[in-house]
Amino acid sequence: MFRERIQLKTLDEIRLMRSAGHIVAGMLAEVRAAIAPGVTTAELDAIADAYLVSRGALSNFKGYHGYPATVCISVNEEIVHGIPGERVIGVGDVVSVDGGCSVAGTGGKRWHGDSAFTVVVDPAADDDAALSTVTEDGLWAAIAAVARGQRLGVVGDAIEQVVAEAAANGTTVAIVQEYVGHGIGTEMHQPPEVLNYSTRERGVRLKPGMVLAIEPMLTGGGAGNRTLEDRWTVVTRDGSRAAHWEHSVAILPGGVNVLTALDGGAAGLERFGLTPVPLEP
Ligand code: MF3
Ligand code: CO
Repeated sequence: MFRERIQLKTLDEIRLMRSAGHIVAGMLAEVRAAIAPGVTTAELDAIADAYLVSRGALSNFKGYHGYPATVCISVNEEIVHGIPGERVIGVGDVVSVDGGCSVAGTGGKRWHGDSAFTVVVDPAADDDAALSTVTEDGLWAAIAAVARGQRLGVVGDAIEQVVAEAAANGTTVAIVQEYVGHGIGTEMHQPPEVLNYSTRERGVRLKPGMVLAIEPMLTGGGAGNRTLEDRWTVVTRDGSRAAHWEHSVAILPGGVNVLTALDGGAAGLERFGLTPVPLEP
């Protein structure tokens, strides 16, 4: 059976990807701090753009298949790929921001990072806050599963398990299936596809040097979705709200380092009894 080639990175290349990842983390932190009622999504995009300019990095979203902005901002019923514009953030909104950048390496190569978070603007409805928390928990459970696991299929299994536990505790969410995570390296999107749900395939063997962008998208209603006439914005069919969390994760001997987290993932992995594999110097 034909298998797509997965780019394995050297330690030095992973360190370059960490440089990109930490710039993405800084960019998203600045955007997050500016999210408040009355702000437009275009104003948030401008903050992201200025941050990347100040760090000498390039947005890998802008110009991607003609995408017109630095980041994607998806509000409420928008799941992913929302285009920043005149939409005004309001109280109680569920705001997902997805962004990335590339930095220069040797030989004309560029190394990429990609990450997303969701925030619910205060006062948050309990079910919206739970939706975002379950999605973030699913991401970290998947990262921990990759740190311990042998096969890529552990990602979808871990997310499904978190979703099942949430349902048992009264939070019902659905996993969006049409959009998936991906390998990342000298391009933002590389093989393999990283599914957010379980299948019978166990998936490729996880190897040191792989870097995966893991990005669950969950809704508080049905998982059905469609793309708006702008040809980018993906919304739920039933109008239910959605959350999206993403990190770029390097697989290393003995575990992982979360390249888009400034602490390498230490805080997120702690509850699993794991620590990130250091990349020093
Ligand atoms: N959201 C996608 C990802 O995280 C990338 C967005 S492509 C863009 O993989 F063109 F919309 F920027
Ligand atoms: Co991604």
